[in-house]
Amino acid sequence: MPINRVPTGIKELDEILEGGYPAQQGILVSGPPGSGKTILATHFLYKSCKDGKKCVLMLTQVNVESFLEQAESIGIDFRSCIEKGTLHISKSFETRTNKIYNATRHGAGIGFLEKDCVQSVLDIPEDVEIVVIDNLDMLSLYHSKEEFADKFFTINDILYAKKCTTLFLIGQEETGIKQAIAQHTSFGNIELHISRDAVTGRGMRQMYIPKMRCTYISLEPLNFKITKEGINIEKIFQRDEIIKGALEHVT
Ligand SMILES: Nc1ncnc2c1ncn2[C@@H]1O[C@H](COP(=O)(O)OP(=O)(O)OP(=O)(O)O)[C@@H](O)[C@H]1O
Ligand SMILES: [Mg+2]
Repeated sequence: MPINRVPTGIKELDEILEGGYPAQQGILVSGPPGSGKTILATHFLYKSCKDGKKCVLMLTQVNVESFLEQAESIGIDFRSCIEKGTLHISKSFETRTNKIYNATRHGAGIGFLEKDCVQSVLDIPEDVEIVVIDNLDMLSLYHSKEEFADKFFTINDILYAKKCTTLFLIGQEETGIKQAIAQHTSFGNIELHISRDAVTGRGMRQMYIPKMRCTYISLEPLNFKITKEGINIEKIFQRDEIIKGALEHVT
């Protein structure tokens, strides 16, 4: 039986993923700064809100205003979603800033800050269907690889039990070990890359999907642009079809 899908908010990506992200599962989105992780999640949240699903965004590194500002810059206005209660943004960033301020005043280390991340996920109300955690970098920074593995597994498990479809966003740490752990634990992985052509020096953005359980994936990297309408995936490079077309032309 085919599994249920939740639309990604990006038409081309829905086509590639047989309708959307696998429902009630955790998908890891990784990539360097500016690669488009938050924008990918913004499309997902907006589409889900419009479809009447209850969503939670846990922001850990930017404040709420700057998230909303960037969404507006790509034509997405979350104000009515927030007013209607379809989107709740948990102010992990502001909470963190206050904790750091207080910890510094009392001479405590700030490593304890992430100890309550499991509790924050446990506190997500039962009627929430969509969760975005932007991002896991702080969890990764303050924990050993064993602790990170335990916490990430636990968070993933809690969200699965709550039947949430979740995007976990993560940057790129030096060793890549924690990212590998998260990739292994997640149901699917989407990598966003920024690269430069060695010859022309031109920069390009690519999306690569190395893993998506229960889904056919071509392993063909997808070129995309970020414009004032957000993520725009270029027509997929259908290598097989082009080769077939060229051969037909020759014969
Ligand atoms: N309105 C816009 N028009 C065109 N490009 C935009 C617009 N808004 C954002 N971008 C592009 O998207 C990039 C930011 O994407 P995003 O915030 O999703 O990255 P990220 O992977 O979440 O980065 P970080 O790890 O720093 O959080 C910007 O650097 C810019 O290139
Ligand atoms: Mg971001």
